[in-house]
Amino acid sequence: MADTYKIIIVPDPVLREKAQAVETLTDPLRTQMDRMLATMYEAPGIGLAANQVGLLNRVVVMDIAQREDPGTRRPICMVNPEIIWTSEEPSTWEEGCLSIPGQYAEVQRPKAVRVKYIGYDGTPHEDYFENLGAHCVQHEIDHLNGVLFVDYLSSLKRNMILKKVEKAQRAETVL
Ligand code: NI
Repeated sequence: MADTYKIIIVPDPVLREKAQAVETLTDPLRTQMDRMLATMYEAPGIGLAANQVGLLNRVVVMDIAQREDPGTRRPICMVNPEIIWTSEEPSTWEEGCLSIPGQYAEVQRPKAVRVKYIGYDGTPHEDYFENLGAHCVQHEIDHLNGVLFVDYLSSLKRNMILKKVEKAQRAETVL
């Protein structure tokens, strides 16, 4: 198992930055993906974007198989992921985020998307996602653009959630 990264929590500004496109898939980048997957599984979570471990390159890892069938792992690594089609039909799902620990809210997004990306093997891929998978991949690509799921909520609700996390983080630091 690869080493893990420390997961960055709001309000760290790196979560608001736009990650840069990757130009070549190198071994250090594959090591980054291995470490991101290890970090995600350990958390545990179903998706993780590079910004969340303090890296500003366009890399996302996810695995929703474990959620549907515990014990099963079907990791997907995406370099430079891009949404190329979204369904008209929306879907509402309760989302959370490893960078906003303990907080969940319903978010509305397109119910299905097609995404193109460079895979772990360095070749181009195109995948279709719906429901949980669609929410997850859109949520992770948002991270690469400095966008968080709370941005889809009212400012009242967003500020409430962010304040709760800051308060919890402060309490943890004091203890
Ligand atoms: Ni997230």
